[in-house]
Amino acid sequence: MVSEFMESYTEWMKERTSWRTYKNEKLEKVDRKLFEEFIAEHHVTPFGNEPRFRLVDNFSEDGKIGTYGFIRGAQHFLVGAVRESPMSIEDLGYLFEKIILYATGLGLGTCWLGGTFTRKPAFEKMELGEDETIPAISPVGYKSDRGLIGKAIRWTAGSRNRKPWSELFYRDNFESPLNNGEGGVYSVGLEMVRIAPSSSNNQPWRVVLDGDSVHFYHDEKEYSTHKQLDLGIAMCHFDLANKEQGIPGVWSKESISDTRYVATWSKL
Ligand SMILES: Cc1cc2nc3c(=O)[nH]c(=O)nc-3n(C[C@H](O)[C@H](O)[C@H](O)COP(=O)(O)O)c2cc1C
Repeated sequence: MVSEFMESYTEWMKERTSWRTYKNEKLEKVDRKLFEEFIAEHHVTPFGNEPRFRLVDNFSEDGKIGTYGFIRGAQHFLVGAVRESPMSIEDLGYLFEKIILYATGLGLGTCWLGGTFTRKPAFEKMELGEDETIPAISPVGYKSDRGLIGKAIRWTAGSRNRKPWSELFYRDNFESPLNNGEGGVYSVGLEMVRIAPSSSNNQPWRVVLDGDSVHFYHDEKEYSTHKQLDLGIAMCHFDLANKEQGIPGVWSKESISDTRYVATWSKL
């Protein structure tokens, strides 16, 4: 209910889980309006790329709905498109996750789906430019019971599990891992990174605290498109959680010569 609606991204981060089974119901007008207004009003990304988003109806004129992997019953999809340029996939990941969190606040189910969706008929409505891609979509709708398939996927993807702090977060360099809660004023932000969604629950983000600069890296393996999205999601959680703690910051690229380095957040 709108009257009880409290805007707290940090709470929504804790609430969000991937949802794969939906009621066969279209969004009510009020929910659709709120959702589309949010998309229209939120544009700011860490590196200034301008991804665009649309809520696309997932049904053709004969009323049939498209199917995507294990997603059942979804009537609408959030679709994100962006021009290819440096940090554009991370920027899309950042803003896409912000929208996902807002949907969570509205009580709607979502599930990140990474892949190449450009050729699916439903997404022709995006009217993609030559240099634009659609790296991710998500169903948006009213949740139905997870069902056996949903439960099995959560089990195999290890959805409930997250790596411990000491594998993800460090102080000064990768020689000094942090234990749970040892991030000082950044502890909430780091915990929100830890619980973020990632492709196959890989949690490829690594974070090094360096005073009031916080450096984001990816793990040892190749930096795939999925991983770029994962890093954008982590940046979103860290940034928004800090803001809600009264600690605003800015993003930059520093001259750090480590192939895993992605971006730095610095306190304002
Ligand atoms: C970039 C990205 C791509 C994903 N792709 C898929 C997908 O194709 N199919 C799927 O069922 N889940 C997908 N997921 C959802 C992850 O499996 C899920 O976020 C992870 O297991 C953690 O579970 P949780 O979201 O419930 O916390 C994706 C997540 C991300 C961030």
